[in-house]
Amino acid sequence: MAERVTLSVIKADVGSIAGHHVVHPDQLAAATKILAEAKQKGIIIDFYVTHVGDDLQLIMTHTKGPDHPDIHGLAWEAFQAAAKVARELKLYAAGQDLLSEAFSGNVRGLGPGVAELEMEERTSEPVITFHADKTEPGAFNLPLFRVFADPFNTAGLVIDPKMHSGFVFEVYDVVESSSVLLKAPEEMYDILALIGTTGRYIVRRVYRKSDNLLAAVVSVERLSLIAGRYVGKDDPVAIVRAQHGLPAVGEVLEAFAFPHLVAGWMRGSHYGPLMPVPMRYAKVTRFDGPPRLIALGWNISRGKLIGPVDLFDDVAFDEARRQAQIIADYIRRHGPFMPHRLGPEEMEYTTLPDVLERLKERFVKQEARK
Ligand code: 13P
Ligand code: 13P
Ligand code: MG
Ligand code: MG
Repeated sequence: MAERVTLSVIKADVGSIAGHHVVHPDQLAAATKILAEAKQKGIIIDFYVTHVGDDLQLIMTHTKGPDHPDIHGLAWEAFQAAAKVARELKLYAAGQDLLSEAFSGNVRGLGPGVAELEMEERTSEPVITFHADKTEPGAFNLPLFRVFADPFNTAGLVIDPKMHSGFVFEVYDVVESSSVLLKAPEEMYDILALIGTTGRYIVRRVYRKSDNLLAAVVSVERLSLIAGRYVGKDDPVAIVRAQHGLPAVGEVLEAFAFPHLVAGWMRGSHYGPLMPVPMRYAKVTRFDGPPRLIALGWNISRGKLIGPVDLFDDVAFDEARRQAQIIADYIRRHGPFMPHRLGPEEMEYTTLPDVLERLKERFVKQEARK
């Protein structure tokens, strides 16, 4: 049997230049140095370092399986090195997501985000890694549902015999820290009843029903650490395998041609459109956004990362970007009003308790009209 390879995508915001805008090149270099040494020592097979906005992205392959201390320790070391650069350069929010390091007024940052997928390499193994900034894992709910359950998005669900029986969604409840397996198409309405609540129920994994092949993974690990109470935004990553009995790369990407509204823009407290962009636009300047997503295409070949190709670097996504601009203009005009601003229970920053405390004596009870 072929050796199993694990693709680990681990990310953290450890500081950025000029606000929560973009990772500094010296941080990328520091992380690259650590991973290059690990590759030389044979701890990992291959790696790639990049960023989306202020989130540093480590993409690694190895044979140690998910949740391996060597791999997580290596990522931690790379993040520490990049955080050290951030501190030296006095970058903004240095060490933001490394719990013990720093505090930027954002209480949600509790550690790196992780998506890991262990696979037996197929004859050809096309994979897409998605990396988002200024949003939360639930941002993948809508597009992943469309990729794996909506025949109006994915033609293969209807016409590819290998996919025709459908997919199984693992939906994770952030509050209860539990998950449920639900089948599509049979239980589509149950799936939607849950995952429409993007802040609580997250599509965590997707399996092909016919053989249980793991087709997609979304980072929710950080959220699970603090389950039991509300946990908020956490700039997410996802891994999706494609082709040959799975949705084609074009079917996967098609779901992102609709710039749907996601939570996490400005101070983690606003809704905005998720804009699919090439790597050169993976920085967020307008109102710290709008929320941004890059998609990197790979072939995994005996653990080697062949690629990436910058999949949203295509004029075919210009219209999605233009729509996102129009939606951004429209929703921005709501200023501090919902539904641009998140509901009070979901905001990362809020003055509401202070305001209520200060005004408490001035609230005058009114008799309800009969
Ligand atoms: P495969 O079944 O070989 O993945 O081909 C599907 C495809 O890419 C057509 O667009
Ligand atoms: P990040 O979560 O990307 O650090 O953004 C924080 C923020 O408040 C941006 O406005
Ligand atoms: Mg930040
Ligand atoms: Mg970020």
